[in-house]
This record gives sequence, C-alpha cells and structure tokens, in this order.
Amino acid sequence: MKTRSEQYQRLEFTLGAFSDLGRHAVEAHEFSSAARSILYLLLGSVGVPRGALLGCDTGGRLYPAAVKGMRPGSLREMEAAALRAPSRAEIEELARCPEWIPSGEQRLPAPLRALAAEWGMAGILPLVVRGQLAGALLAGNCLNGRPPGEHERGALETLGPYAAMLLLQHALVEQLRAAVQENLRLCESLADTYFDTVQAFSTAIDAKDIYTRGHSLRVARYSSGLAARLGMPEKSSTGIRIGAYLHDIGKIVLDRTLLHKAGTLDDKERREMASHPLIGDQVLSSVHFPWPEVRAVVRSHHERMDGKGYPDGLTGAAIPLPARILTVADAFDAMTSERAYREPVPPHDALRELVECSGEQFDPGLVRAFLEQCRSEVEQAGGDGAPRKPGGLRVFAKLLRRTGDSLTTSAIDRLLRILGPVPIPQPA
Ligand SMILES: [Fe+2]
Repeated sequence: MKTRSEQYQRLEFTLGAFSDLGRHAVEAHEFSSAARSILYLLLGSVGVPRGALLGCDTGGRLYPAAVKGMRPGSLREMEAAALRAPSRAEIEELARCPEWIPSGEQRLPAPLRALAAEWGMAGILPLVVRGQLAGALLAGNCLNGRPPGEHERGALETLGPYAAMLLLQHALVEQLRAAVQENLRLCESLADTYFDTVQAFSTAIDAKDIYTRGHSLRVARYSSGLAARLGMPEKSSTGIRIGAYLHDIGKIVLDRTLLHKAGTLDDKERREMASHPLIGDQVLSSVHFPWPEVRAVVRSHHERMDGKGYPDGLTGAAIPLPARILTVADAFDAMTSERAYREPVPPHDALRELVECSGEQFDPGLVRAFLEQCRSEVEQAGGDGAPRKPGGLRVFAKLLRRTGDSLTTSAIDRLLRILGPVPIPQPA
C-alpha cells in the first residue's frame, strides 16, 4: 500500500511529465508515442497494468490512440470496434460527466460498454476539456486484482484534464492539417483548370494558322525548360510558360490571308504583322496575372539584342530575360516546324542558325544554355555512341524522337566551340 506522500509524489511527477508531452502531441509523427506516454503515465500513477487511451476527433469519432498490457495487435482490433461509434448525444452526455464510470453501468454508451466488457476493463474515464470530449481512458483492475478504488479514481480524475488537453490539441492540429491539405488540393485543381484554359486558348491562337499548330505548346516547353536550366524560381518558370502559351495572342486580330501568305510581305503587311506584340500587350493589360513575366514575354518576344527588333527597339540586357528566353525558343521551333513556304529545318541547322545570329538577334548565353540542354538530352538518348543515362529534364525529347539521329554530341560540341565561352545569364 502506497503512503499518501508517495501518491502525491507520483502525481507531481506525472503532472510534470504531461507538460513535457505537450509539444509531441502536436507533431503527427510523434503523436502515437506521446499517446503511449500519456497512457503509461495515467495508469502508472495509480498502479493499473492494463488499459487503453481513446482519442476523439473533431467529428466526434472515437479512435484508439494507445494500449498498455494488452496482447499484440489489440490496437488494430480496437480500431475496428471503435467504428461502432457512440451517437452525438451520447458523446455530449459523456462530456457533461468527466467522472469514472464502472464498466457495467447503463449510463456508458453501448459501444463503450461493449468495448470495456470485451477487453475486461474495470471502467472508463471520459477525458474532457472545456466541456468538450477529447477522449476516454479505459482502465483495467489494479495490481491487487481489484477495480481502482476511491484514491485511484480521484487521481485519474485529477490527471484526466491534462491528458484531455493533449488529445484535444492533437485533434485541433489534425483538423487544421486536413483544412490546409484541402485548400492545397483546391488550389492545385484551380491551377490545373487555369493552365488547361490558357493551353486551350493557345491552341485557338495557333489554329488560325495551319502551319503553327502546336507551336505555342512547344515554345512553352522549350522556354520553361530553359528557365529551369538557368535556375529560375518555379514561379518565374510558370510565368514564362504561360507567357509562351499566349505570346502570339495579338495575331488573333490579324487577317488569316496575311498569316498564310507564302511570299515575302510588303511594307504595309510587315507593319501589320509587327503590330501583334503590342496588340497582345493591350489585350492582356486588363488581366491581373500573378506573373509579371507573361506581359514581358508577349510584348518583347520580337526584340533583338542589337536593338533592331520591335516594338520598343530595346537592346541587350534591357530586354527582359523571360522575353530573351522566349525569342530563342520561338525561333528554334519556327525553324524546326513546317511552314507554308518550306520544309522543316533539321535541328542541327536550326541550332547553327541560333549560334550564327547570337549577339545580334539572340542572347549568346541563352543560346549556349539551349545547346547544353540539347547536348545533355542527346547524350542521355545514347547519341554519338554514348551510354544511355536515365533521368534529367526532357525538353527536346519529342523533337529528337521525330528527327532520329540527325544530332550528335560532337556536332553540338562544335557549335559550342564556335559560340565561345559566353556567360549564361543569371536570374535576378
Ligand atoms: Fe510572335
């Protein structure tokens, strides 16, 4: 028989241990060990070798959080039993009475009475905090074989609210976690819908010209791949991708016959064609994109490094980096796609054209990054007899599949040597 002083010491120790457990109850991955500690402390403080701790989630469902002194697998068996949940009225009734209830008593909800009988428990203590049921403690007989007496029940009722606080804290954190997950799922599905809509719109833009079908989607792949290779943040890369989908949106107002004209354009036609970046910028001026890259790409994708581009005649680094990226991707896809007046240019010849026009039309550092990306994919595909390597960013995969072995790593190395050691632009 423990003396009163020993019992107080044990209670004091248990209370101290509960305050240390608070932090662990919040961490989902540590909750099961925290719940076991709570149970062991509660039962240990009154010398009961067997019991179980049930938690109550914010939906009012009870679930087994920990067991002590039971056969292996009992936690899982109890999970199935706990599915026979008490009604909301029964839960509210338990919350009104945070006192020890012996197993056989009729005021115990039937599912809990059955659970206590099935597992040979002496009684149940509802764990309540601020009038809300946070869980329940199922306790067996004491070591002397008798049900917990007045002192033991009193000790459990004193400690109950501390255990309840930890269980409630965990339930609230879980509720918050579920709400955050749901919000993230909603955001993702909203973003998917948004991208699908913009993609569909880009298909509508390309569809005006039978020779540019799929052009915007391919340009988006090349540009976002290039942005990722430069180490641009994901948000910027997304902005560039959306900008690529919409870069020729201004062409939607141009006459179809102008877009399909096979011969050279006269001055008036050229001016009309050259108006599409400004028209596109005006069309998008009322749309509040969360990505500044979109309008930069739409307005400036026909600027040139030497200042001979349009609509603003910007030079070099004054041209926004997203637009410089798109210019390279746009030109490469335009060359490697079929046009009304010519067959597609082989990828190697298109890359050589990018190199030859570097500095005047294209940013040399971006051409180098583009060549290096292409080289690494050719190498991964086993080009030039190099061993196959898995993984990595795939920007040119479809083109390489379509054009077979026309590109080799040594051919790209030659182009890189011609280009020279130009620095690759660093994102701001
Ligand atoms: Fe354009």
